[in-house]
Amino acid sequence: MCGIIGYIGKEKSLPILIDGLKALEYRGYDSAGVAIFSNGKIQVKKSVGQVKILEKALKNDIDLVSHLGIGHTRWATHGMPSETNAHPHSDCQNRIFVVHNGIIENYRELKEYLKNRKHIFISDTDTEIVPHLIEDFLKSNHDFNIALLDALKMIKGAYAFAIIDSKNPNTLYAVKFSSPLVIGIGKGDNFLASDPSALVGKTKDIIYLKDGEIAEITKDNINVINFEKQKTSPEIMRLEWDLEQAQKGNYAHFMLKEIFEGPEIVLSALRGRLKTKENLVKLGGLEQVADKLKKIKRLSILACGTSYYASLVGEYLFEEIAKIPTEVHFASEFRYREEPFEKETVAIAISQSGETADTLAAIRKAKEHGLLTLGIVNTVGSTIARETDAGVYNHAGPEIGVASTKAFISQLTILTLMAVYLSKSNGHSSNNALFQELEKIPEKIKTILDKCSQMEALAEKYKKYENFLFLGRKYNYPIALEGALKLKEVSYIHAEGCSAGEMKHGPIAMISEKFPTMAIVSQNSVLEKMFSNLEEIKARKGPIFAIATEGDKEITTLADDVFFVPKTIELLEPFLTVVPLQLFAYYVGTKRGFDVDKPRNLAKSVTVE
Ligand code: AGP
Repeated sequence: MCGIIGYIGKEKSLPILIDGLKALEYRGYDSAGVAIFSNGKIQVKKSVGQVKILEKALKNDIDLVSHLGIGHTRWATHGMPSETNAHPHSDCQNRIFVVHNGIIENYRELKEYLKNRKHIFISDTDTEIVPHLIEDFLKSNHDFNIALLDALKMIKGAYAFAIIDSKNPNTLYAVKFSSPLVIGIGKGDNFLASDPSALVGKTKDIIYLKDGEIAEITKDNINVINFEKQKTSPEIMRLEWDLEQAQKGNYAHFMLKEIFEGPEIVLSALRGRLKTKENLVKLGGLEQVADKLKKIKRLSILACGTSYYASLVGEYLFEEIAKIPTEVHFASEFRYREEPFEKETVAIAISQSGETADTLAAIRKAKEHGLLTLGIVNTVGSTIARETDAGVYNHAGPEIGVASTKAFISQLTILTLMAVYLSKSNGHSSNNALFQELEKIPEKIKTILDKCSQMEALAEKYKKYENFLFLGRKYNYPIALEGALKLKEVSYIHAEGCSAGEMKHGPIAMISEKFPTMAIVSQNSVLEKMFSNLEEIKARKGPIFAIATEGDKEITTLADDVFFVPKTIELLEPFLTVVPLQLFAYYVGTKRGFDVDKPRNLAKSVTVE
């Protein structure tokens, strides 16, 4: 997820671009760049790091007379954060400049195609193919719009582009397909941005471009057509937000916004990787070690906190789908254990930030012992991403809320893809039913989010308790642990996650009217076992709040309150059972009056031991 900004009009463009990029920085902040038309040509400035570094680099140019410009703040997906990989990117003649938010899935093929047509590439990005593709079509047809449309026909993936052309200095081009893009309507000027947060204070009239639309923007006019060259009449909306609000969209907190990103997060982790028709999973980041992966004898997963609980779900997935013996370690324990390493053990580090000190040290230890090391990391270019031998990026965008939510959903998605990928590389066939059910998960998460007000009401009832037991079995045992962690993090309630089978070996002693239980009771192979555990709690007058499967009639006879989730196959249940627990923690935390985005005593990335 990156931030795009564009301006055309009577004002000097640079200050407006810089301002806009600062507002969009929460979307990505590993590098930034601008391109402006000034003194008859397009001038570019890029820098690594936050926008303020770019601003410093531009301090002598800030008053340059320029009425047209585009800018970008980056969240790297392809190519490390560097000045070369920062946007904008241009064609061979430095005529066309493009900034991009999204992922071009077929960029490797297009790059080969363009290289064979003598185009020179300088960056590792997927984006750089766009200006070269337009340039290539301009050779056969000098109409920029036609060349742009022809180029778009060849591009697959998700994208929002802002484009300027030195031969058309009075026009700003915008293209939207799957990634967000908003036009701001000014008086004698017009704006472009990835989201309204960059337009607050600039205009109140905005147009949300739709998928498959191109806008040709001049200072006095906005002409929108679709990919079939038909003119469309965009709806003008009123922008009522302040900056903070705009960044959070309509959500009161980043945590809630990130919970509601669940469906899109699964889609972006699957994009270009789940090939249901071909019944295969494509993980480009593992191809370089594919041969070694064929010889895996054991998997060792290393992580902390929420990433550790996602790893526990991964343990079940790798053993059930890929038939690979798997163990999961708290990275902080692994780094000091005297563990005998078995040959052909592969270590996987899972980390949202990619900077967690314990996980980094654990993966370095594995490396010292000659293990192949893989990473599942959200922050591109982070230390763990750089130090592991290969890996898979989450593409979940920056996670601002300290309590990790969307990253967990993304980690579940990548772990499921990886288990299928490894099962195939170990010669096991994969059942297409799993592929098809995985594709339905985003919609099923959406139906849960649509019932958030139900969870809000239940949170109002349960916010008074100071203790909570979370119970689950099999795939839902790690979800009980994660649910308890979320509640602890943002409400400061003492919550304990426990495998339901373990309860009678001690934790049941805590059960009383004042000690409620959150039980995850999906209709699956261990349902009857969960029912008997609930009977044991009911017998001791413990209040029971159950997360259950739609259509389960019996659970209402056992639990005081039930939140139903859609049915899915057992190994994908965690996707659907964790979301209600994320919502529950959020509502209890806010109803107890806490700032759930910045919980006390916690840091988003724990870079110390
Ligand atoms: C989760 O909500 C916490 N922020 C914390 O437990 C986190 O999961 C842990 O610090 C690991 O972080 P990482 O995924 O960035 O390595």
